[in-house]
Amino acid sequence: MFPVSRPRFTNKIIIFLAASATALLAASLFWSFEPQVKALLQGRMGANPSPSAETIISVVKLILLGIVGYLLVRALNFLFFGLAFRLKRIDAPTLIRNIFTIVAFTLFFLVTFTFLFPDVNLGALFTTSAIFGVILGLALQDTLGNFFAGISLQADRPFQVGDVITVGAQRHTGVVEEISWRAIKIRTFTNHVALIANSTAAKELIEVFPRGNLNARTVFFNTLYTDSPAKTIHVVREAVRETDNVSDKVTPVVRIRNLGDNGVDYEVKYWLDDYAKYNDTDALIRQRIWYAFRRAGLNFAYPTRTLHVERFTKPPARDGDGSAVTERLAAVDIFAPLSGDETGMLAQAAVRHVFAPGEVVIRAGDPGSSMFVVHNGRVRVQVNDNGRPRTVATLNEGDFFGEMALFTGEPRTANVVALEETEVLEIGYAAMKRVFDNNPNLVESLSFIMAERRQGLTSHDDPEVATKNSSAGILSSIKRFFGI
Ligand code: CMP
Repeated sequence: MFPVSRPRFTNKIIIFLAASATALLAASLFWSFEPQVKALLQGRMGANPSPSAETIISVVKLILLGIVGYLLVRALNFLFFGLAFRLKRIDAPTLIRNIFTIVAFTLFFLVTFTFLFPDVNLGALFTTSAIFGVILGLALQDTLGNFFAGISLQADRPFQVGDVITVGAQRHTGVVEEISWRAIKIRTFTNHVALIANSTAAKELIEVFPRGNLNARTVFFNTLYTDSPAKTIHVVREAVRETDNVSDKVTPVVRIRNLGDNGVDYEVKYWLDDYAKYNDTDALIRQRIWYAFRRAGLNFAYPTRTLHVERFTKPPARDGDGSAVTERLAAVDIFAPLSGDETGMLAQAAVRHVFAPGEVVIRAGDPGSSMFVVHNGRVRVQVNDNGRPRTVATLNEGDFFGEMALFTGEPRTANVVALEETEVLEIGYAAMKRVFDNNPNLVESLSFIMAERRQGLTSHDDPEVATKNSSAGILSSIKRFFGI
């Protein structure tokens, strides 16, 4: 927010003291020269004037005393609210100060009036004058509406000075600077002052973003369909959480809003330390996203048309990067005895799949006729332990899973869940059968690993014996299943 220029406090005091001195001087002069003024008036106005010289003098006195009284009330107001309240660290609302001024001045005026005009019955004047009442009522309709709406705003206190508010269908937004008896004064984000009449505000919807509250904002962006959501979410979240004015009390949330025509639409929700600076912070966040995208090789989506040309002359490639897959499979320990051609054949048969963090790759109890090798990322093997998930293993790049159902024909024994964005290579029954036909010894090493893994799924008194026994059982069931 921009600094607000106001007359300086000392200037105000000087002006006030000068006005008070002038008013007091004028009043004392008038009182001292009252007989002379009276004589002068009587001399000029003749024998039976209407109004009489006395009445004119009383009216002037009333005006002078009114001015002095007003200044007195202002001084009291300052002493009471300005000093006494501030000593107790309470900031009195402008509306309360104004009500004090109005009530005190009205009382002072009535007392002075009764003193100067003892013959006039003020009560009768107000109660009997119907026309006066109608005029006053019509004239004060809006003013009184604002006044009472202001009182209810003060009593309710839905917002305070310093809060950001948005008012009505026109969505006037700004920081509340003052709530007076007539209007709410807000400073907009273009440094304009907008006054919203209290009676209008009382009827409109007001959205309040309290100062000191963790208010949130949402910024939108998009990426190409080829950019990974897990990577995008991670990159943007880290970029946003380090931006100025983004609260470190709540981690920003990045999520997909829509799968749009041109790309994947995202939103990032973040919480601000100072909501009044949301325009700057939104802009800074967009800037940070741009730089983060640049570093991470992510791309914003712009209106595009993608033309797919299908070639029928070549068989469709099963994986875009065959050598990486072959290398990966060659590094898997159970495939170590395979020749280069055999590993190449497996790589040809392998199908690549990508899973998001938290996605289930294999579900316990499902039938399964393929196994998987972790190409990139990590997975967690979980079993159901009395209704609660228990992790029995975490598998990294180069590890394999899903072999139990593939080699025995039994249902899947556990859930396998991606821990991060994970790419797996799926190898089916037919490819494995070919491998086993050429390498019958492979079955033995596999059956040992499977027996060990089964051990991890259940507890057993003597793990070594159990492993051996069960490995022999597994060996024969694999041989049976594959007809070896
Ligand atoms: P399958 O039963 O086909 O599906 C679940 C897979 O989790 C299972 O094959 C194994 O590959 C794997 N698995 C089960 N238990 C373990 C374990 N103790 N350690 C590592 N992997 C396991």
